[in-house]
Amino acid sequence: MSNTSETELIHMFKGILFTARSSPELLKSLDTFDAREDDVLLVSYPKSGTHWLAGVITKLYNAQVTVTSPIEFGDISKLEELNKLSSKRIIPTHLDYNMLPPNFKNKKCKMIYISRNPKDTAVSMYHYYRDNPNLPTIDTWPAFFDLFLKGDVVCGSWFDHFLSWEEHENDKNILFLFYEDMKKNLPKIVKEISLFLGLNVSDNDIQDICKKSSFSQMKSDTEKENSDPSHTVCALTSNRKLIFRKGAVGDWKNHFTPKQNRKFEEIFNEKMKLSKM
Ligand code: A3P
Repeated sequence: MSNTSETELIHMFKGILFTARSSPELLKSLDTFDAREDDVLLVSYPKSGTHWLAGVITKLYNAQVTVTSPIEFGDISKLEELNKLSSKRIIPTHLDYNMLPPNFKNKKCKMIYISRNPKDTAVSMYHYYRDNPNLPTIDTWPAFFDLFLKGDVVCGSWFDHFLSWEEHENDKNILFLFYEDMKKNLPKIVKEISLFLGLNVSDNDIQDICKKSSFSQMKSDTEKENSDPSHTVCALTSNRKLIFRKGAVGDWKNHFTPKQNRKFEEIFNEKMKLSKM
């Protein structure tokens, strides 16, 4: 961070970095949030495929739902704004499990957690930092790489986020998904999501949803503004055009040096030693 206005872009809440787009007052008030039993949470660490998943879910429901902005985005008026919505709510969030409003847990709301290879997540987040005026300036990839491993980035440590949710992977109301599985066999994952949400969707409709949710289609819809360009499911920007960059698996190989890869693996193995990943 190079100047005062840049430091104003972010703040720390309960040990985790948030952008100024999440006001401390809103974050403090989240514990009082009144969840509804039919709310669906769409949970991710940034850059894990949140918009892709949101695109699929909206198409599955066929417009009877509202995908809200992320619960942690905005100021204190946010909770009231969500309360006023009469339709079923799909609520995105980048919060880790411990910061989630307790009402969602008590009411056993359905939650879908999408995760991605953290190496690709780091690379995607690096480009996002560079393109996004709401985030502090990052000069080089090596500088970002170190920040990411230390968890000194918005939404905190990837490892802590993943582990906080993985602990609940057997909860019946939580579905765990991986970006890479969506890339490998999207129709299979879309079917899995529809069963989890209790929706009856024909195989033809699933094929159609997959076609409309391809990277090229979603990118071009955003560029042609066939979808609202200012509606994102990421608390870090309202500009959808920043989201669709490459949409590939393994882009980390174009960024990581062998030394960085060794360091990443070392830290990964240490932090994730109790994880099944
Ligand atoms: P890249 O930066 O690697 O391209 P999020 O929505 O959580 O912010 O994640 C953004 C990442 O998901 C970006 O990764 C983006 O390109 C990728 N993405 C978005 N839509 C996609 C799609 N339909 N298919 C594959 N990847 C997609």
